[in-house]
Amino acid sequence: MERKKITLPNILKLYDAGERISMLTAYDFPSAAIADAAGIEIILIGDSLGMVVNGYKNTMPVTIDEILYHTRAVMRAVEYGFVIADMPFLSYQTGAHDAVYNAGRLLKEGGAEAVKLEGGRNMAEVIKAITRADIPVMGHIGLTPQSIHRMGGYKIQGRDVKSSAALITDALAVEDAGAFALVLEGIPGGLAKEITAKLHIPTIGIGAGKEVNGQVLVFHDLLGLSGHKQPTFVKQYAHLRETAVSAIQQYIKEVKDGVFPGEEHTYK
Ligand code: KIV
Repeated sequence: MERKKITLPNILKLYDAGERISMLTAYDFPSAAIADAAGIEIILIGDSLGMVVNGYKNTMPVTIDEILYHTRAVMRAVEYGFVIADMPFLSYQTGAHDAVYNAGRLLKEGGAEAVKLEGGRNMAEVIKAITRADIPVMGHIGLTPQSIHRMGGYKIQGRDVKSSAALITDALAVEDAGAFALVLEGIPGGLAKEITAKLHIPTIGIGAGKEVNGQVLVFHDLLGLSGHKQPTFVKQYAHLRETAVSAIQQYIKEVKDGVFPGEEHTYK
């Protein structure tokens, strides 16, 4: 069936209609093609690619050129979903000029349709500058992986009165600055619900409970492709790592036993 490409106005229509929004990361041609074939509405080239597909310990080393490389591969596959590219550490924190330039590169050279960046009040001026350049921005607050050293690790945020009030102020500042949506990561479900009720833009949760306007997961976590223990908020809908390991073991055995290639795999 012919499907029409999803645009930003389509995403906002889903929010207005009260329909929950599905979002998933993808980092390369095959993962983007699979997410797109399934009908995911927002595809994110997350800076989580640093850890998930490049093996870094955290997202800090990811560069704008790495995000661009992966964005181009994703864009070659996507026909349906709305595509957002993540702004990596130091591509926007240094000021509005750098932020607009780097966000612009993700659209101009990568082909993305919007950008995402981490931060609340501290990033309001940057969000304003990027949106003034007509580049749609998705915000991201709560457990923001680029703040790993301030947080002292990946820790749930907003658990006490002071920090939950600060996150509400941050959410309002991001909306006020012109973001079209906001990722809420690693915060209590009650706080996510309160923030969602106060905003007039969609909230997309990851480890933020169900009282938000949409959900995002990492592709490899959802499909069970990662070899490590998953955080509580992850639901594995498949166990593809085990399937892949056992398929490859079978291949090794057939090579050793002389079973593969068979007659049907041999040119006459
Ligand atoms: O980098 C990423 O994948 C993200 C999502 C998990 C929201 O920021």
